[in-house]
Amino acid sequence: MISDYVALKKAGTNYKGLCPFHQEKTPSFTVSQDKQLFHCFGCGVGGNIFTFLMKYEQIAFAEAVRVLAQRYGVLIPEVKATAQDQRKESLRQINAMALDFYCQQLREEKEGKIARGYLERRGIERAVWEEYRIGYAPSRWDALVTHLKKKGVNVKEAEALGLIIPKTGGWYDRFRDRIIFPIFDLRDRVIGFGGRIVNDGPEPKYLNSPDSLLYKKGAGFYGLNVARKHIQKAGGKVFMVEGYFDLLSMAQRGVKNVVATLGTALTPEQTRLARRFGKDFSLLFDPDEAGTKAALRGVEIFIQEDTFATVIPLPDGLDPDDYFQKGGDAQALWSRTIPGVEYSMERLMAGYDLGAVEGRAKAVEAVLPFLLQIKDVVRRDLYLKRLAEKTGVGEGKIHDVALTLRKGRKEGTEQAPSAGINVSAEKKLVQMMIQHPELIPLVIKEGVVAGLEGQALRSIGELVIHTFQRHGDLSLDRIAVQLEERGVSETAFALAFQEEELEEGMAERITADCLRNIKMKTLKRQMEGLKKRIKEAEAQGDEALLNALFLSMNTLSPQIRKLQREGLKESS
Ligand code: UTP
Ligand code: MN
Repeated sequence: MISDYVALKKAGTNYKGLCPFHQEKTPSFTVSQDKQLFHCFGCGVGGNIFTFLMKYEQIAFAEAVRVLAQRYGVLIPEVKATAQDQRKESLRQINAMALDFYCQQLREEKEGKIARGYLERRGIERAVWEEYRIGYAPSRWDALVTHLKKKGVNVKEAEALGLIIPKTGGWYDRFRDRIIFPIFDLRDRVIGFGGRIVNDGPEPKYLNSPDSLLYKKGAGFYGLNVARKHIQKAGGKVFMVEGYFDLLSMAQRGVKNVVATLGTALTPEQTRLARRFGKDFSLLFDPDEAGTKAALRGVEIFIQEDTFATVIPLPDGLDPDDYFQKGGDAQALWSRTIPGVEYSMERLMAGYDLGAVEGRAKAVEAVLPFLLQIKDVVRRDLYLKRLAEKTGVGEGKIHDVALTLRKGRKEGTEQAPSAGINVSAEKKLVQMMIQHPELIPLVIKEGVVAGLEGQALRSIGELVIHTFQRHGDLSLDRIAVQLEERGVSETAFALAFQEEELEEGMAERITADCLRNIKMKTLKRQMEGLKKRIKEAEAQGDEALLNALFLSMNTLSPQIRKLQREGLKESS
């Protein structure tokens, strides 16, 4: 089935071809027929036939199911449309009608003349405004109301969409004398509109559709419908801008892997959506105060989703549109790209006098809570080092403050990964579970998976165990979609495809080894913690606490020794 999309050649037990998800000259895209899975050793994508289609066609799971069912003539029961679905459908039709009307108006010789002139002055050519299906709302009070009535539309529904607004004895158009920007969902259906005033006056510069059954502010992006295929072509690179015209200006210059946030701060919902389509995000926000705040917030939200966006600060107070209008060069702009964390650190420290003691202390306090949100231990550590260098505060002290801050945050369900995490043992363990499901019960018995420090590994491990417990076996094919949704499919399929021939009984030994290793790490960590607390208790002369701590230590020590002995026995 994947061979309908990718030319595949037999290679050993698998099939190989050129990966459709990244540019390559030698095939590293691998399909395993007996596993019913694919994985690319080049870019890391992996999954089953459903997630392949979801990625390739940029569609949702339900749609992938439908496509496959159609192809193979399998009937899937149509889920009966609910009343809400029906209502949505009729609202969509009204939006579509309104869009047709606006587009028609812009093309209209007389009516659209001024608006076309406006777009021309802003350097947006017809091919571009046609592609983004831009329209024009005439300057009359009832142009759309009249049009919709003529079409027999229930105007109450147009009101629910915010297209028209009630007044005594009737309705009037929300958008008047405005360039209209339609906002589409992922299936290319109009869900809302934005409108920019053509003749500057007292009215607000931009108006947007209010939230409705179809449209929710901060849920999607402007321009994503066009950007999708360009993002894929650009290997996952996504530019994010704030405004409609920033986006159009870039599109006009052939940069179409760009989406707009529409002047509001990025939401977690948006970043998750973005990660479905891209993997390398650059924020190009206005250099004014609002834009700077939005960039800071954007970087932070991405970090919370374990993603490192970059920022491209614009020169001289220009927004992206201004920059290009003034003949600015794209390459020169891209070359300003900096890691988002660095940008944020600079901004957060900007107000403080690093020459003064107070200033340095305040700068540390301003930046630390931000850096502590970085989940990747290596990066977090490196940035903490950087903070130490910049403020001249000792690294040890920075870590101390970090510790108190972390303790203070009560939402401490997310245990901070400690130093010396044992990624390789954890990785191996999860790999063994995937490749040798018969060993899963052994792993379950030891109960270590919930405590794995690698987030992705923990998530995969938990899903694997859950599936095994429910079905009594495991195939990644079965859980490919869930892995995808948790954002861990790359890790999982890389592990599944890294195969080595193991002699009889080896898998079990390796698994036991990993389990011991992980348990040992955990025990030692607990021991370290105990020692630290014992020191504190001693310093405070807290006898009762000391006794309790020593008791705990007495139960820990033999466990550690036992593990050590087992390890020796095994390796001899
Ligand atoms: P800006 O105020 O930066 O405008 O708003 P702009 O994009 O530079 O507009 P032009 O170049 O003068 O046409 C950025 C974005 O914020 C949203 C719009 O999406 C706008 O593109 N916005 C702004 C609103 O929704 N309402 C407003 O009143 C202003
Ligand atoms: Mn602008």
